Amino acid sequence: MQPMKGSYFLTCILISVFSTCVISFIPIDNYLIDCGSSRNTAVGPRFFLGDSNLPSRTLSTPTHIMASTHSKLGGSSEYPSLYQTARIFTSPSYYSFQIQQQGHHFIRLHFYPFVYQNYDLANAKFNVSTQDIMLLTDFQLKNVSSPILKEYLVNITKDKLIICFQPFSDLAFVNAIEVISVPENLIFDKAYTINPLGQYTGLSTQALENVYRVNMGMSKVTPDNDTLWRTWVPDASFIQNQNFARWKSTWTRLNYMQGLVTAETAPPIVYNSATELALLNETTTGAQFNITWQFELQEGYTYMLRFHFCDIVSNSANQLLFNVYVGPWAVLTDFDLSSLTYGSLATPLFTDFILSAKDTTSKLSISIGPSKIANVQPHGILNGLEIFKFNNISSTSFITNDAGSTGSLVIALGIIVGAMISFVIIVLVGKMRLEKKRSFKMHRRSTINNTVLCHNRYLRYRFMLLELQEATHNFDENWVIGVGGFGKVYNGVLRDGTQVAVKRGKTNSQQGINEFRNEIELLSRIWHQHLLTLVGYCDEKKEMILVYEYMEKGTLKSHLYGSDLPPLTWKQRLEICIGSARGLNYLHKELVKPIIHRDVKSANILLDQHLIPKIADFGLSKSGPGLDQSPISTAVKGTFGYLDPEYFRFQQLTVKSDVYSFGVVLLEVLCARPVINPSLSGQIINIVDWAMGYLRRGELIQVVDHQIAASIQSDSLRKFGEIVEKCLADDGCERPSMAVVVWYLEYALQLQEMEPDPSGVNSLNLIARVSDEIEPFLGSSSMKSLD
Ligand SMILES: *[C@@H]1O[C@H](CO)[C@@H](O)[C@H](O)[C@H]1NC(C)=O
Ligand SMILES: *[C@@H]1O[C@H](CO)[C@@H](O)[C@H](O)[C@H]1NC(C)=O
Ligand SMILES: *[C@@H]1O[C@H](CO)[C@@H](O)[C@H](O)[C@H]1NC(C)=O
Ligand SMILES: *[C@@H]1O[C@H](CO)[C@@H](O)[C@H](O)[C@H]1NC(C)=O
Ligand SMILES: *[C@@H]1O[C@H](CO)[C@@H](O)[C@H](O)[C@H]1NC(C)=O
Repeated sequence: MQPMKGSYFLTCILISVFSTCVISFIPIDNYLIDCGSSRNTAVGPRFFLGDSNLPSRTLSTPTHIMASTHSKLGGSSEYPSLYQTARIFTSPSYYSFQIQQQGHHFIRLHFYPFVYQNYDLANAKFNVSTQDIMLLTDFQLKNVSSPILKEYLVNITKDKLIICFQPFSDLAFVNAIEVISVPENLIFDKAYTINPLGQYTGLSTQALENVYRVNMGMSKVTPDNDTLWRTWVPDASFIQNQNFARWKSTWTRLNYMQGLVTAETAPPIVYNSATELALLNETTTGAQFNITWQFELQEGYTYMLRFHFCDIVSNSANQLLFNVYVGPWAVLTDFDLSSLTYGSLATPLFTDFILSAKDTTSKLSISIGPSKIANVQPHGILNGLEIFKFNNISSTSFITNDAGSTGSLVIALGIIVGAMISFVIIVLVGKMRLEKKRSFKMHRRSTINNTVLCHNRYLRYRFMLLELQEATHNFDENWVIGVGGFGKVYNGVLRDGTQVAVKRGKTNSQQGINEFRNEIELLSRIWHQHLLTLVGYCDEKKEMILVYEYMEKGTLKSHLYGSDLPPLTWKQRLEICIGSARGLNYLHKELVKPIIHRDVKSANILLDQHLIPKIADFGLSKSGPGLDQSPISTAVKGTFGYLDPEYFRFQQLTVKSDVYSFGVVLLEVLCARPVINPSLSGQIINIVDWAMGYLRRGELIQVVDHQIAASIQSDSLRKFGEIVEKCLADDGCERPSMAVVVWYLEYALQLQEMEPDPSGVNSLNLIARVSDEIEPFLGSSSMKSLD
């Protein structure tokens, strides 16, 4: 085959050109058919093959007719030339495609009725199906004034795809067909259910029909600007309250998260434009309104909604917090994009939700609205939205299994593979310009932030067991960096060089499984600079593995005692306490439902290379009762020695139980001794009993770690003692909130750094300054107790 050789040669050149950068997606199966045409039709850089150029045997049956029209389409269509011809079927017929690569494919069917001889295509009524699923039932195109494009995302698991047309009376037709492989990471198996909020599994085996594909932010994206040739329509016609919306577009270089989101997920233009809440005045706080888009759906069907987000509006991280609603359900609350991207802006993300058939109404409202968290500037954006309908009707076509010989129209496209390769080449050439731009982007991606790993809010990156075996030298005992009730923690290095901590649960304990799920669930919803970040997990083969960011300096405990690490200075200790307290305060105060950590201890405070603390180990955490302080009753868990006596006695858990445990940590930090030391006797065994005796007698200095005792300013120590005493109050109500603890600790730090000033002026300034910062947290009663 002469053309094949040339094409093959060209392919090799192109591949070697691309191998220096990362090759963008090139579909393995890429069938573009212009039906009823004897010519090949160029549509942008793509060539649609006229189906009459196919082997003559397949065209001999008189029951299918090549139709054509001279009437020109208006300017609205992307494919005017495709709609000049159609193939008419007057009896059941099918196309057969050789599938080179099994997996997900787009099947696109183009329809635009016209009158040809005595056939009025608007009178057609027919079914379209593959050998497995029904694509269109009782399909009619009466009163159609612009071309109809039906797109399906299907997982093809056979080496042949058959598309059947079954007319009801005697008329079926199609103008063009596309069958295109898509990247496997275009669709994941898991998504989140909306009502109730939970997990859906099995998405990747569903046949999905795209019903809406919307680019928020005004502009239409045409197939030529989408590497998978999709059309994204602007959102203006769906938006309910235009006055509340503002369209934003930028041309920012996007920071893709490796592996999860690519230019194939949605084109850069989609992520570079958004619809945002139009705040009447940038300084207005408390603006309360939603932007709502409305879509028409078919009742009785399940839908998948894919939200595309990319923060192109903020100047810095943690500025943009908002809520997303589907119908009456809040699906994302206080959603902070930057928390999922390690603070990196302009980073595309998407999230999939399943709206079950029972909840589908004929009109679906999608809204974004401001977060209700105090002190957060009201804001919100959406960049794109795709809505797919689950196709749950199995095929009733006349073709049951292998349709090799019976049909009237067999277009054995395998035969024309040679021709197809040259199409691929043409497409490639067309893409080269794009490619150059993208390789620059790739370069940037790898240098920007090698800690950016793939995850999104609800679905952290799911590692393959193999990847983690590789990262930890197959769980080499020499790589163990910690052992706990849950299992062992290994040091790991991912392929891209990122160091991580890999916590491998002991399998087969139910408690373990619950805690594992609890931890993924909790950590996926929250992010704070003083809370340990979950990078991903692995649940393959009953494994329960959690992957965290690596904390180079280990536990706070190891820096206090039981190791030969150099002692931390008082200032370092205070800074670590402040950071940890901020992390706990976030859990207690800044979420819609407070989270009680339940196992606050120095071994659960980890330090990074700069000694920045992060709170770890959420396996025991419980999401607390609403904002009222009523306790939740629960079995005693946690670590002996840190337990809130109230909790221990009455099994009543409140955020104040964490405050108690944190008070114990403060004592450990001060004294550098174990919480329980059985080798001592009597009251001395327990650090609280031991130290509180001295504290009450005003002799706290006696219990201070002797390595730093001389360097502590007495005012700082006195202030620190006050905090400890308050945290350890027997009655939970008397313990301060973590916000107040932060305040005291900062005060203690300032006192440590300040030259003693007999006039007291400095300390007044200090109080004014510090209290400005935390005023929202301080009740007047706690102000009274200040000096
Ligand atoms: C087609 O449109 C005309 C006028 O808009 C209307 O009267 C007619 O009922 C429509 N037919 C169908 C089948 O929808
Ligand atoms: C079209 O599909 C429907 C639903 O599967 C089926 O009931 C009907 O018989 C089909 N019509 C034809 C002409 O095959
Ligand atoms: C791609 O998008 C740009 C900007 O929106 C537009 O100017 C251009 O016409 C589009 N190109 C094609 C081929 O659609
Ligand atoms: C917002 O309103 C304030 C007072 O009403 C005004 O001083 C300020 O200029 C306004 N800002 C903008 C951006 O309109
Ligand atoms: C936004 O819409 C949701 C869902 O309909 C509703 O619960 C919420 O109160 C709305 N928020 C505002 C500020 O209107």
